Amino acid sequence: METPFYSTANGFVYEPSEDSFLLLDGLEKDLQLIKDARPTICLEIGVGSGIITSALSKHLGVNGFSYFICTDVNPNAGIACKETFNLNNLIYSPEIVLTNLIDSLEHRLQSNVDLIVFNPPYVPTDDCEIESDNLLTKSWAGGIKGRRVIDKFIETIINVIADDGLIYLLLSQENQPDEVIEILEKVNIKLDEIVIKRKCLNEHLIVLRFRKKKSQQLTQSIGKLKIS
Ligand SMILES: C[S@@+](CC[C@H](N)C(=O)[O-])C[C@H]1O[C@@H](n2cnc3c(N)ncnc32)[C@H](O)[C@@H]1O
Repeated sequence: METPFYSTANGFVYEPSEDSFLLLDGLEKDLQLIKDARPTICLEIGVGSGIITSALSKHLGVNGFSYFICTDVNPNAGIACKETFNLNNLIYSPEIVLTNLIDSLEHRLQSNVDLIVFNPPYVPTDDCEIESDNLLTKSWAGGIKGRRVIDKFIETIINVIADDGLIYLLLSQENQPDEVIEILEKVNIKLDEIVIKRKCLNEHLIVLRFRKKKSQQLTQSIGKLKIS
């Protein structure tokens, strides 16, 4: 999966950095697994420049089988993402929705999303930095433990991820990944694999792949529990 050309809309969206490139590497490592899953509806939250979605689209979109929806709180992401798609000669741009996480889409996507990708604002900061008017600060400021946006993300995806759906989430060690894994496990979203990890400057970053357990499997487990 080659690194796409990208636009930052003249510096108004997050410039792809070590975290973006590690996520790309993780997705490249898993590309065959993702293709085999044949995801119909793919969602990138916090699309920024569009570097991640354009790389995936090259392999899953156009002549493939996937439809991409992207969101961001930064209105410039729509411009940047479209430019990024043009730069890479990708004809079909994704749907880009300006919204907090998936707030305006949640009711429409109910249990229908096959693939979710998120490189969140994960840097630990004071909580007030998240409320900053500066859109670029919102790209990285993650509040206490860097978890403010990540924890909200978990709450919202529960309702939209399809059975057997895949979730790729980038975290730093400071986000306490074990705690994130535990929270997701409680809602039937299991850690599949630590896809890739790397020390980037002073950060230890990891890309995790989660999978939503099928409801049927849950029913069976409940059945087994009842019997025993
Ligand atoms: C670390 S950047 C990642 C950008 C791009 N996906 C990449 O990997 O280079 C995080 C992105 O999430 C967006 N973002 C921050 N908070 C958000 C929220 N509550 N809902 C949607 N997007 C958000 C930011 O504007 C930014 O574009």
